[in-house]
Amino acid sequence: MIKPHGGQLVDRNVKKKDVDLEGYKTFEISTNTSEDILNIANGIFSPLKGFLCKNDLNNILNEKRLENDTPWTIPILIDFDKNDIKDIKEGDKVLLTNKETGITSVLDVEEIQSYDKKSIAQNVYKTQDVNHPGVANIYNMKEKLIGGKITVYDTKVREYDKYNLTPKETRFLFKEKGWRDIVAFQTRNPPHIGHEYVQKTALTFVDGIFINPIIGKKKSGDFTDDVILASYDTLMKHYYLKERAVMSILRTSMKYAGPREAIHHAIMRKNFGCTHFIVGRDHAGVGNYYGPYDAHDIFAEFPDLGIVPLFFRSFSRCTKCDSVVNDKICPHDQKYHINFAGKKIREILRNGQVPSEDMMRKEVSETILKFDKTFVE
Ligand code: ADX
Repeated sequence: MIKPHGGQLVDRNVKKKDVDLEGYKTFEISTNTSEDILNIANGIFSPLKGFLCKNDLNNILNEKRLENDTPWTIPILIDFDKNDIKDIKEGDKVLLTNKETGITSVLDVEEIQSYDKKSIAQNVYKTQDVNHPGVANIYNMKEKLIGGKITVYDTKVREYDKYNLTPKETRFLFKEKGWRDIVAFQTRNPPHIGHEYVQKTALTFVDGIFINPIIGKKKSGDFTDDVILASYDTLMKHYYLKERAVMSILRTSMKYAGPREAIHHAIMRKNFGCTHFIVGRDHAGVGNYYGPYDAHDIFAEFPDLGIVPLFFRSFSRCTKCDSVVNDKICPHDQKYHINFAGKKIREILRNGQVPSEDMMRKEVSETILKFDKTFVE
């Protein structure tokens, strides 16, 4: 089994009954931040044991690596209003809770720092444009960051838990299945034919595929979590072998950071026990901020990543070939190509129409159209 990123799977969960949490200053944090805490605690963000301190943050921004040189591209941060933490000092512990996730966790305050939002925007997102949804999120953060280790003492049972496996569980499952080479597929969308083609082409070369849709904070206009899960359930029921494909969700926010996020996505899947990672056209992109294959090129900077990227050129349907093709295998002019553009498919579905079966499986479209709320508002 492939080693977790940094060598060891982090586990920062401790039973509540073993500690006394009385007396700590308490902060009700966002659902999104509590997902980060759970991802740290469950090892999805291994080797991180907490929120970043200054040296790691600066190194990530400038070198795309932690201070100890381990590849890491997306800052994992917790922000506070400066007035709320004016009597908190380094060495303290604070209690972090959230109603939606039911989390009870403790943050060891190792470092309190101010930070430069523009520098994060420019380095991580390659733009300071507030219209970029990831940049907007950074600009909306409060003035101070706290760096330090976290410990999780409690969470609650939640919707979709049956789809939610931790790295410990996926590693056990892959072993049980006898899979050695496992390809991971990141997604934030219901599957169109291009997605299926990428997945199945990759699966041809390995033992199993781990389909790992992101469930969590997304931008307005993206598909809702319910729609993504139901459409994958449908696709897998009709068109995948049970013994070759596993789906589990990943609760985290989309950053839309294109190439840097592709590396982050790969690292998380390595922690789940996957050996290969699919990177297609405009991976984790938004608008025109990144080139369609920037997320391929960035992997050249990480020969030590420890998970093998599988790069795919954009798939489309060629009406001349009468099959799904990309620019490496099809000699015909673009005018014969039907693109699986997410934007176009969303528009068709938004109008209550069924996309052509050249773009999306009939069963998948029908499943999506059954929902009243298809898109994030
Ligand atoms: S993403 O934000 O998670 O990247 P999406 O769910 O659309 O968006 O894509 C999931 C994966 O499929 C990404 O690796 C993406 O590059 C790839 N992909 C999507 N559409 C195509 C396509 N037509 N051809 C090749 N790869 C694709």
